[in-house]
Amino acid sequence: MSEVVIPSKSEKETMNLGRFFGKHAMDGLFIALTGDLGAGKTHFVQGLAEGMGVQGVVGSPTFTIMNYYDGPTPLKHFDFYRLHSEDDLWNIGWEEYGEGGVVVVEWADMFPSLIPEESIQIEITLSGETERNIRIHWGERAPEEIIKEIKEYAACH
Ligand SMILES: Nc1ncnc2c1ncn2[C@@H]1O[C@H](COP(=O)(O)OP(=O)(O)OP(=O)(O)O)[C@@H](O)[C@H]1O
Ligand SMILES: [Mg+2]
Repeated sequence: MSEVVIPSKSEKETMNLGRFFGKHAMDGLFIALTGDLGAGKTHFVQGLAEGMGVQGVVGSPTFTIMNYYDGPTPLKHFDFYRLHSEDDLWNIGWEEYGEGGVVVVEWADMFPSLIPEESIQIEITLSGETERNIRIHWGERAPEEIIKEIKEYAACH
């Protein structure tokens, strides 16, 4: 497991990091987000969507389980927070929706067994009113190209 930690001083900086991921996102990318309520997970996803060229408002899928955004590479935004069991996900078709395109999951630690080994994990920790520490970590099977970009991004942020 390798990691980098990137500080964020504002909502904008967290969105910029998301936008950077969106620019380098490729089919099959899986991002597992964790962090307290109000840490900035949804803001990261808003940046991610922008970086991928998704048009329109990206809200929180808390009440819909998943938001789907069509595009050259589709974006699937999940929020596990209100789910009671993995069955809720299998019932809406996790097998099909949980892979392909770009998948991003808020509260991914609710069901660790659903998170693939290829995933990039992002943990946002509050360190002040508007300060956050964003820890990005990954395993050996994470996509190499974007990992290279992440290391470069971390070196200059
Ligand atoms: N550095 C920062 N990065 C991201 N958000 C920040 C930052 N500083 C302050 N904020 C504020 O924190 C809140 C983050 O809300 P957001 O909905 O993105 O969090 P979340 O992690 O998705 O929460 P939830 O667990 O409820 O889904 C927003 O009100 C945002 O303005
Ligand atoms: Mg959220």
